[in-house]
Amino acid sequence: MDLLKSSARLMIVSDLDHTMVDHHDSENLSLLRFNALWESNYRHDSLLVFSTGRSPTLYKQLRKEKPMLTPDITITSVGTEITYGNSLLPDDGWVEILNQKWNRNLVIEESSKFPELTLQSETEQRPHKISFYVEKAKAQAVTKALKECFEKHGLDVKVIYSGGMDLDILPQGAGKGQALAYLLKKFKSEGKLPNNTLVCGDSGNDAELFSIPEVYGVMVSNAQEELLQWHAENAKNNPKIIHATERCASGIIQAIGHFSLGPNTSPRDVTDFLDCKLENVNPGHEVVKFYVFFERWRRAEVENSEPYLASLKSACDPSAILVHPSGVEQSLCDTINAMRSCYGDKHGKQFRVWVDRVLPIQISSNTWLVKFNKWELSGEDRRCCTTTAVLSSKDATSMSDGFTWMHVHQTWLEESEPKDHSTWLL
Ligand code: GLC
Ligand code: MG
Repeated sequence: MDLLKSSARLMIVSDLDHTMVDHHDSENLSLLRFNALWESNYRHDSLLVFSTGRSPTLYKQLRKEKPMLTPDITITSVGTEITYGNSLLPDDGWVEILNQKWNRNLVIEESSKFPELTLQSETEQRPHKISFYVEKAKAQAVTKALKECFEKHGLDVKVIYSGGMDLDILPQGAGKGQALAYLLKKFKSEGKLPNNTLVCGDSGNDAELFSIPEVYGVMVSNAQEELLQWHAENAKNNPKIIHATERCASGIIQAIGHFSLGPNTSPRDVTDFLDCKLENVNPGHEVVKFYVFFERWRRAEVENSEPYLASLKSACDPSAILVHPSGVEQSLCDTINAMRSCYGDKHGKQFRVWVDRVLPIQISSNTWLVKFNKWELSGEDRRCCTTTAVLSSKDATSMSDGFTWMHVHQTWLEESEPKDHSTWLL
């Protein structure tokens, strides 16, 4: 488990559909805002946890469709599967706990007697989760009848209704809340309890997250009726929970500000980088800022002005080299000069750039090796380069004067290599 060496400054535990991911925002602007904030200010010392109702199969599908970051921990199938890192390494301890007192076959047998229930797709049936669809009008009565039936058979299970259509049956000890409680207990035993935890959700299966003691919570503005009702009945007077006025990931950013959990200005909210004063200067921020600018330059969302390029060049060491993913080497300053010809080439087109897993490692008193994945979405085409950059702080004793780029090396992420390298600039 490749997590932090000490307590996380902030742990965000967020649902995905209609919370981190806004399915009504085809440009994914709030998600991209969050991504830039996270990578520039939190990635190095905080933990990002996604907690979704989706199975691993549908979760992977969503990651291909949306510009999502790689979380440190992924909790899938409504808190029944906990995995770590990019490789989704399973937590076997959690599986063992869920296996206790769980009789999957009997649950399937009994629930199949309810004609109001329609089984969801095969991918969504998991070792500790059985899922159906049920009409909203029938949900309450069916839930009640199911619970009585299970009780009669001595089955200790949990029935959760979400999104006005989904009904999940899980072991009693499972669910998003229990999975979070398990993680917090584990962190505590390692002496690494996060300084702050913020849970974020929009629907019924998220309600449990908000009942974990000590955590802050945000119900995004677009939260479902069933969650708002749960809140009104169970947590109305808890000052640590807010109903945001902003949708999805923007609601999460709003909550970070509301509870003063750390910086809440996304680099995407800064309109002019030439005169921006930052809350938190660090090498990760430098990387994020550069690629936000690069996207805007090509979309013609910044002015086509020489001072911008001059400022970029002044941040490059004269001898700095860029190793292009094709293997070709060129001076970084020449690459910046070449940006003149691509100003506005993506104007009016779908074009987004974001960075993921930005990891700065200090290699000397004023030098950092920053590794990150740089993603580019251009129309239907989506590609990623694993990038290593060497950055030095201009002032040997502090980071506040900004950084100088000393070297950049990019390689294609597996399966991402295109046939034609010519459209990739940097
Ligand atoms: C996701 C899952 C589905 C589940 C629902 C609510 O949509 O794919 O199986 O029922 O979340 O938890
Ligand atoms: Mg949701």
